[in-house]
Amino acid sequence: MTSGGDSPGMNACIRAVVRTAMYNNIEVIGFLKGYEGIIDNNFIELKNESVSGIIQKGGTILKTARSARFMQEEGILQAAKNLKDNDIDGLVIIGGDGSFKGAIELSKHIHIPIVGCAGTIDNDLVGTDFTIGYDTAINTVIEAIDKIRDTAESHDRVFVVEVMGRDAGLIALRSAIASGAEALLVPEIKYDTTNLILKIKNWRSTKSSKIIVVAEGDQSGGAFKVAEMIKQNCPEFDIRVSVLGHIQRGGNPSCMERVNASIVGFNAVKALMTGHKNEMVGIVNKQVVFTPFEKAVKHIQKLNNDLEELIEVLSS
Ligand code: F6P
Repeated sequence: MTSGGDSPGMNACIRAVVRTAMYNNIEVIGFLKGYEGIIDNNFIELKNESVSGIIQKGGTILKTARSARFMQEEGILQAAKNLKDNDIDGLVIIGGDGSFKGAIELSKHIHIPIVGCAGTIDNDLVGTDFTIGYDTAINTVIEAIDKIRDTAESHDRVFVVEVMGRDAGLIALRSAIASGAEALLVPEIKYDTTNLILKIKNWRSTKSSKIIVVAEGDQSGGAFKVAEMIKQNCPEFDIRVSVLGHIQRGGNPSCMERVNASIVGFNAVKALMTGHKNEMVGIVNKQVVFTPFEKAVKHIQKLNNDLEELIEVLSS
């Protein structure tokens, strides 16, 4: 099943799971709409031909949901019962941290192995360098920011660009570096308003455009709040806000996405066949690695090791 926010590359992963299973004479069914589908026993049979022509498509053919019912014990018990009644031998979940937290709960009530494929544009899972969807999403973001930069330059404007990431700043971080942004605000890092204003006031006067990339969950409350705060303190700037929204979740997956999703899906089935249980398949330094769900969902460590300092230096 696919679960949580969709991400480009989920279809490529579904294809790899189905084709690898069929190759090994394993029957596959796909639950529709994530945990909702397991609770409602809503599934389709998947065969080689079911996954033809989907590797290049965004979204997920299995549909997805954030299931409120699965947050309740009743929903979890119903899902566990349906898995048992259907004689399911193993479950592959393609999703993000919420989906894997759900898997931890589900595994308390069933004994079949569950393997996760990291599918989220947020890249906020420990145990993989890139989650399925992240590469495509950041490329969508930089394409948009490049366009914003053109108009910002023409008008000598400051743009506050809001990207996705309610709890994670990794989309903001990479796209800020790649688009040459002047500043970055992310949920994981508390920033000092006075320092930020000082920094903005000290921007080199020869810079005609300035881009501030803000993750939607940043600690000041998003792009409009940030723009308002700058307006109050730096009336000399002409400021605009651009919220990129759900375009970041759609579109054809990049080449890297399709390859990674295929490797991960293939290895998820292999993992189930060789006794892995309650682990996420990831790729770290080009090697396939397995991380227990409990560890995979602790994303905060990831940003700390990343490239935030570059922005300050390279935009000077
Ligand atoms: O988890 C992926 C994500 O796109 C986040 O970046 C974003 O905060 C959230 O989903 C938005 O979810 P929804 O589409 O349910 O509003």
